Amino acid sequence: MGDLQRGQGCDVLVAQMRISRRKAIRGLVGMFGAAPWLEAQDYSDPLYGPINVMEFAEAARKKLDPLAWDYLDGGSEDEVALRDSREAFNRLILRPRMLVNVQKIDLSLELLGQKLAYPIILDPAGGKNCFHPDGENTVARAAVNAKALHITNGGIDEMVEAGKGPQWWQVTTGGQLRTAQTMRPFVKRLEAMGCSGICFTVDIMHVSHRERDIRNKLERAWCESGLPKRDALGKLPEAKNPWRVGIYPERPFPTPTWETLSELCSATKLPVIVKGILTAEDGERCVKHGASAVIVSSHGARQLDHVGATIEALPEVVKAVHGRIPVLVDGGFRRGTDVLKGLALGAKAVCVARPYLYGLAAFGQRGVERVMQLLRTELALDMGLAGVPNLAAIDRSLVRWRGEAR
Ligand SMILES: Cc1cc2nc3c(=O)[nH]c(=O)nc-3n(C[C@H](O)[C@H](O)[C@H](O)COP(=O)(O)O)c2cc1C
Repeated sequence: MGDLQRGQGCDVLVAQMRISRRKAIRGLVGMFGAAPWLEAQDYSDPLYGPINVMEFAEAARKKLDPLAWDYLDGGSEDEVALRDSREAFNRLILRPRMLVNVQKIDLSLELLGQKLAYPIILDPAGGKNCFHPDGENTVARAAVNAKALHITNGGIDEMVEAGKGPQWWQVTTGGQLRTAQTMRPFVKRLEAMGCSGICFTVDIMHVSHRERDIRNKLERAWCESGLPKRDALGKLPEAKNPWRVGIYPERPFPTPTWETLSELCSATKLPVIVKGILTAEDGERCVKHGASAVIVSSHGARQLDHVGATIEALPEVVKAVHGRIPVLVDGGFRRGTDVLKGLALGAKAVCVARPYLYGLAAFGQRGVERVMQLLRTELALDMGLAGVPNLAAIDRSLVRWRGEAR
């Protein structure tokens, strides 16, 4: 038998073993009924190696070029806010409730008139092509399979084509918002394409110093096209326009203001969700200027450093907004318990970026889907353990800050 044939024989054997393993798993599921923890998963598949978001991060780090990894995982300047965004969760303690019937856990909700299967949303993230080819469309397809809302910033036509699920479109300082003349046709187009919301990111009027990327001489355009291949000596081509320091910040046009938000809200019948709010005052302004929702966010600690953790900013925004519009939050959510804490502090839903990007980098579309499945099932399990069978049962009494008197 030639090598090729032998190799094929071996593949067939492995495939047969896989099939019989799958059969056995299905048999077990039959025996115990359709218990969700017995859902058929082929554990010889490397996808099932990582068992939580942090292990997906490790898988992504091993797979990616170090430059792409730093772009994905890094924060700005001293990365103080980045560290805070994780550490703050340890200062929040869950207060579980016993002897509640938690036979069935219901994660469903309605957000801005849209029914969602669970309160975890995929955040916008630019530069996905340096983690996976055709990254934006891949994530859009994964979001549909994962039954999750996706906030996208890819090319409109392909995106709507790739993702038939609910999608919000993300805008920042781009030309579309410059004048009413450019804004109106743009939002009409989004409406016609079937987007269900416009996410207006307000914390990136200038791009911060991401010092890992600066040291790496990363060319930001590479993240759009995909990182170029390293040569035989392991060197990347020299960047034509590397990320640099010592350049005075200025923009060729005025940056958007609260009036821009008012204009945007009046130009469209779609809900406008303002992303990047960190204070009570700005939460109040969002309501006043017509926003339909806010996302408490520090851009994943990638913009202004030293802003603390978003989970720390959330309570003041929730208080200021006072139930008039939904408040969402993102930044450092890696566990079901983190999501539960966010919901307990008044967030209607939690958004994530790096977690699904780790999945994307490590395993493509299936990785994104798996990460969302892990987060969703962890949240359900944690709710079951905390005595809250549905989202309506979650309130502020479910958490306390360490040292906070009850
Ligand atoms: C690689 C990367 C690219 C991002 N690009 C954008 C973007 O284009 N627009 C935006 O509003 N936020 C962007 N963000 C911020 C995320 O939307 C989100 O606010 C933040 O990353 C959430 O924190 P987490 O990554 O800890 O979940 C990006 C984040 C990452 C990690």
